[in-house]
Amino acid sequence: MIYLDNAATSLRRPESVVRAVSGALCSLGNVGRGASESALSAARVVYAAREKLCAFFGGADPSRVCFTQNSTEALNIAIFGLLRPGDHVISTDLEHNSVLRPLYRLEKEGVETTFLRADTRGCIDYADLPRALRPNTRAIVCTHASNLTGNALDVSRIGAFAREHGLLFILDASQTAGSFAVDAQRDGISVLCFTGHKGMMGPQGTGGLVVAPGVDIRPLKTGGTGVQSYRREQPEEYPTRLESGTLNGHGIAGLSAAVDFLREITPAAIHAHETALMSAFYNKVSVLPGVTVYGDFAHERAPIVTLNIGDMDSGEAAEILSDEYGIAVRSGAHCAPRMHEALGTVAQGAVRFSFGWFNTMEEAETAADAVRDIAL
Ligand code: ALA
Repeated sequence: MIYLDNAATSLRRPESVVRAVSGALCSLGNVGRGASESALSAARVVYAAREKLCAFFGGADPSRVCFTQNSTEALNIAIFGLLRPGDHVISTDLEHNSVLRPLYRLEKEGVETTFLRADTRGCIDYADLPRALRPNTRAIVCTHASNLTGNALDVSRIGAFAREHGLLFILDASQTAGSFAVDAQRDGISVLCFTGHKGMMGPQGTGGLVVAPGVDIRPLKTGGTGVQSYRREQPEEYPTRLESGTLNGHGIAGLSAAVDFLREITPAAIHAHETALMSAFYNKVSVLPGVTVYGDFAHERAPIVTLNIGDMDSGEAAEILSDEYGIAVRSGAHCAPRMHEALGTVAQGAVRFSFGWFNTMEEAETAADAVRDIAL
């Protein structure tokens, strides 16, 4: 099989990640629960992971790296924990339902929203940002790159705008963590939400938030933390403030190994490799008659090419790719309803090819040949 659904999850993982999870499964105790050697060694593994992630994402304080199951959970914690009725929040049409659904729920509770419109190439107009400002604007919540088109937003620019206007900036780095240089302090990111299983090549069930100093998130969950057990309230200190219940220590051990791998290869090298594959594929398919490619390929972007072949239903195209060519892609709506509305692809859906570190140029070319066969 040629696996080109890395935007959904990476399939192959570094051997060191597999070894770390397997070792942790046989050795790890429960962090913060007791003082046995196994609990203490688990605490060391998890703290080391916080330190590595803090450095990797340009955070200010490792104790403000909080673990979650994925970026959806991280975004829910950040959005529900920071916005209150009467606040106004700016977001975009590029968002995934992990941002949209929390915001839609908050709309019903009195939070005002503005979604920056995307054009038919999936691009926002940055001039809309100051136009969206209101006296009660409290935050900007946006993705770093669309999971549908791969178009990236200019995080430094949005971060500078947020800083200038005293806004919180919540970034969804689901599609970029691991292969883009994300730097929370440099880019003025109040809360960076990431998942471990996509570009970071760690295990599913890992992710987290990198919270800037001075940002106080009201916890979404409360419960056992292993500390301050006689208090009725959730501890205020990070990371326990946002971490109730037993952590996914086994997964975090794997994520920690994944960060080592990313640092060794470097996000820049990973980005260059994935971009080369994406570009080779794009150059071949974008000239095919009847093939419509979506997105803006003139600027930096995530390694995604999304297309349709004539008026063929995207699900049918994905099935042909899988059954006849052994190529795994994702079709349909991709949990990105506003983006499909902007592209005009609500009825047809779209076929997404997403490239990863373990893909080869030969695979990219074979996939492009398969699209040509189906299209012609
Ligand atoms: N959000 C993931 C995707 O885009 C699962 O496929």
